[in-house]
Amino acid sequence: MVFFEVVEGSTRLLVPREDKLSKKNPVFYNPVMELNRDLSVVLCRILEPKSFCDLLAGSGARGVRVAKEAGVEVTLNDMNPRAVELIKKNASLNKVKVSVESMDALALLGGGRFDFIDVDPFGPPVRFVESALQALTGRGFLGVCATDTSALCGSYPRACVRKYDALSLRTDFYSEAGLRILLGFIARSALRNELGVRFLFSHSTMHYMRTYLQVDTRNSAVRETGKKVSFMQYCRKCLDRRYRSLNELEAECSCGGELSTFGPLWNGVYADKELCGMMKETLGSGEFNSKAQSARLIETVSAEQDETTPFFDMHKLCSKLGKPVPKMDSLQRTLESRGFKFRRTHFSDVGFRTDAEAKEVNCILSSL
Ligand SMILES: C[S@@+](CC[C@H](N)C(=O)[O-])C[C@H]1O[C@@H](n2cnc3c(N)ncnc32)[C@H](O)[C@@H]1O
Repeated sequence: MVFFEVVEGSTRLLVPREDKLSKKNPVFYNPVMELNRDLSVVLCRILEPKSFCDLLAGSGARGVRVAKEAGVEVTLNDMNPRAVELIKKNASLNKVKVSVESMDALALLGGGRFDFIDVDPFGPPVRFVESALQALTGRGFLGVCATDTSALCGSYPRACVRKYDALSLRTDFYSEAGLRILLGFIARSALRNELGVRFLFSHSTMHYMRTYLQVDTRNSAVRETGKKVSFMQYCRKCLDRRYRSLNELEAECSCGGELSTFGPLWNGVYADKELCGMMKETLGSGEFNSKAQSARLIETVSAEQDETTPFFDMHKLCSKLGKPVPKMDSLQRTLESRGFKFRRTHFSDVGFRTDAEAKEVNCILSSL
């Protein structure tokens, strides 16, 4: 293996030089994931967990950074012995004391408890989520990443049923639908263990989806979490979308179109606005290569929490209406002048969120 040095945050990392990124690489390191490693460091600085477990550590980039840049006690684990060698090199390059394990992740989770566990697998995180939830201390934190977005977003609905126990659907807001199915899966895993969850920050970026959450053992939190998991009904004719519980499901949309049902999925907020403010501050005062991009992401995700109905795709709406696409500003002005909310979304540059129903949005767009 040939290595070269990169710097993420204030951490020096030896990483393998590869022509092509693949899970078959002797040790896996993906430079484009730096943004979410920056966010992990930011969150650890704010949340101050006593212990952090980088469960599937690869080169050790995340865990070594959390140890060095947030001063947290870290355990890094990878069942690949070559990864473990590199983790040890990276820890000593940065003069941080960490525990390094080379176990199957599930075995490690069965034997220890941590304040913060990060689950960053190849593909779906499903087989690690429940064990990770069980290995958290009382009000612990969990980070979860999924890269099998085609299953979650509706391209492979049967794969989604198999892995996430949920039906996915190709919609004009497919990335949000996918993220909400992932969050719904995590929430249902927590509920099976009498845990409630609070999603602290979640996003869909490039080829992956990621969330950070806190568990809560109180009965009230468990009850609240249960209320936030439902189904969604979508009309391909007018693009109406709404969350519905099983006993509220309908066959036909008010426009006469047929309704498609998918889920279960998370219908609540997927980030905590107050925490987002703290994340922006911490990010601004630190040394992070993704600073500008992360700050934009945090700001947009924070504003999005004002409306939980999935975003509309302006191009899809206009192509259905056979109308040219208007300027986003003029749509915003018209929606707001009629008392509706308008928010941009991190999921899409041509997307917007509003509390107006599809028929109202269609009517406004027709008049522009
Ligand atoms: C996507 S990579 C991790 C990347 C790393 N977290 C980072 O930020 O660069 C997934 C890692 O999980 C390891 N892995 C896969 N299955 C495992 C298991 N069951 N137990 C322990 N490690 C496992 C692989 O060897 C690989 O290094």
